[in-house]
This record gives sequence, C-alpha cells and structure tokens, in this order.
Amino acid sequence: MAILEVLHFPDKRLHLIAKPILQINSEIKSLVADMAQTMYKENGIGLAATQVNVQKRIFIMDHSGNDEPENLLVFINPEILSRTGEVVSEEGCLSVPSVYEKVLRSEEIFCRFQDLDGKIHEARYNGLMSICFQHELDHLDGKVFVEYLSGLKQNFIKKKMKKIFKPI
Ligand code: NI
Repeated sequence: MAILEVLHFPDKRLHLIAKPILQINSEIKSLVADMAQTMYKENGIGLAATQVNVQKRIFIMDHSGNDEPENLLVFINPEILSRTGEVVSEEGCLSVPSVYEKVLRSEEIFCRFQDLDGKIHEARYNGLMSICFQHELDHLDGKVFVEYLSGLKQNFIKKKMKKIFKPI
C-alpha cells in the first residue's frame, strides 16, 4: 500500500474526465487499498480516483465516526439514475483543504454502481450519503465543488490555495 499524492484545486488535472472501469482486476484492488490509506491519513470521508490523478470511474467513502470501526465503501462506475428535491449543505474536499462552503445538491438520489466484486447495486440515498455521492461523482466528471460558487469566491479560494501550497 502507498499514500498517494492528492491534487489540489485549481490543478487542471482535476478537470479530466474519468473513464469507465471494464475489468475489476488486481490493479483496481491495489488502487482502492492505496486510496483508502490516503483518505484515512488525510482524515477525509470520501476520495475519488481523479483526486489522486487516476482517470478511472471509482470513488471510496467512509462515514464511520472516530470511535467506530472502519467501514470502507467502494463505488465503481457509479451513476445517478434519478434525483429529487434540493438541499443546501456545507461541503469540504481534500483537494481544497481548509475550505468549507455551502453547495446546492439534490436531496435524494437513486443510483447504481458496482462493488469491488463487480456486483451491481442500486440504492436510494439521502443525507450525507447522497451529498457525498454527488460530490465524488462530480470529481469523476472533472468538477470540484468550489466551481459551484461565484467567480469572486473561486478567485479568493485560488489565492488561499496558492498561499497554502506556495513552493518552499
Ligand atoms: Ni472532493
């Protein structure tokens, strides 16, 4: 296993569109292990392959609390089949550290994805699962959550990121 480098906004590679996974082989399993290790180290609750510069349609989540056992969820070739309602909630992202902003999302989603064994699942999500699924799926389509904000706010965030990641 390895800790992977997480790309930071406004890195252009975050805008690349991820490609479908045709075969869930050892390469994908090893990617999931590396992504999980990276997400846990960075204290994230979700991580998409795009964020570690891998253009494959896969993201992971773990919403278990600090005192709970790990509960890694893997979503391969995820898609949203239908959406209902609207909800505004505050989001953060490992690619935009220390930035938390309110974003409008669908309240409930009906989605489809494959697990690490290739089995197809369909599920209806609301609450944190729904928000996180939409946020991570956006990454696979090359979109970072701050791109929903005004141009003024995005410029402010870009400046903030430059300060955080300025070359030493
Ligand atoms: Ni994110």
